Amino acid sequence: MPDRPKRIVGLGGTFRQASSSERLVRAVLAQCAAMGAETAMFDGPALARLPHFNPEHPDRTNEERALVEAIRACDGIVIGSPGYHGGYSGLVKNAVDLLEDLRGDARVYFDGRPVGLVVTAAGWQACGTTLSALRDVVHAMRGWPTPVGIAVNSVEQRPFGPDGAIIDEAIAGAIHAQARQIMAFAMETII
Ligand SMILES: Cc1cc2nc3c(=O)[nH]c(=O)nc-3n(C[C@H](O)[C@H](O)[C@H](O)COP(=O)(O)O)c2cc1C
Repeated sequence: MPDRPKRIVGLGGTFRQASSSERLVRAVLAQCAAMGAETAMFDGPALARLPHFNPEHPDRTNEERALVEAIRACDGIVIGSPGYHGGYSGLVKNAVDLLEDLRGDARVYFDGRPVGLVVTAAGWQACGTTLSALRDVVHAMRGWPTPVGIAVNSVEQRPFGPDGAIIDEAIAGAIHAQARQIMAFAMETII
């Protein structure tokens, strides 16, 4: 019987229209889809509908349940954040904190799953610190950050053309490589 398609979930982005971090996460998801994955995206506005995580309130909204269930059922994850004051955004952190609901699962948190990380920032320093901070979060949650992380300096680089397509060859290459690593890990094949 053929295996079901791998499920890859993206989360991240900001409130900004045409958020660059959101668009890059979507670009990684599109590459995963081209490799046979089913994908779902929780973008900035979706993450903003999540209440502030409160460990003493077990009741969940439909939006909270949807994110927790999507991560629970997935084979791989892509997280994208802007660099805000040298770290990842509160919007992304609140979503990650909600995943505390996966603590009691046999497959706890991100256990055994590849996690692609995407950062955009207005300077290289925040590109590096934010990517590094996200890697630490993924390790804490027992996930496997892919070797390829994507950090785009939104002042010095121009990833997108007028139609939103990725026009920077190096960034397109990193997106493809990260998607390939996510899919290879999810399929438990040797890269
Ligand atoms: C509140 C705030 C804090 C920021 N802090 C930093 C920072 O510390 N370093 C940096 O390089 N860029 C910083 N930026 C710039 C954003 O990281 C950059 O514009 C990013 O590409 C925005 O992502 P988006 O296109 O997904 O909204 C900040 C922007 C905002 C709004």
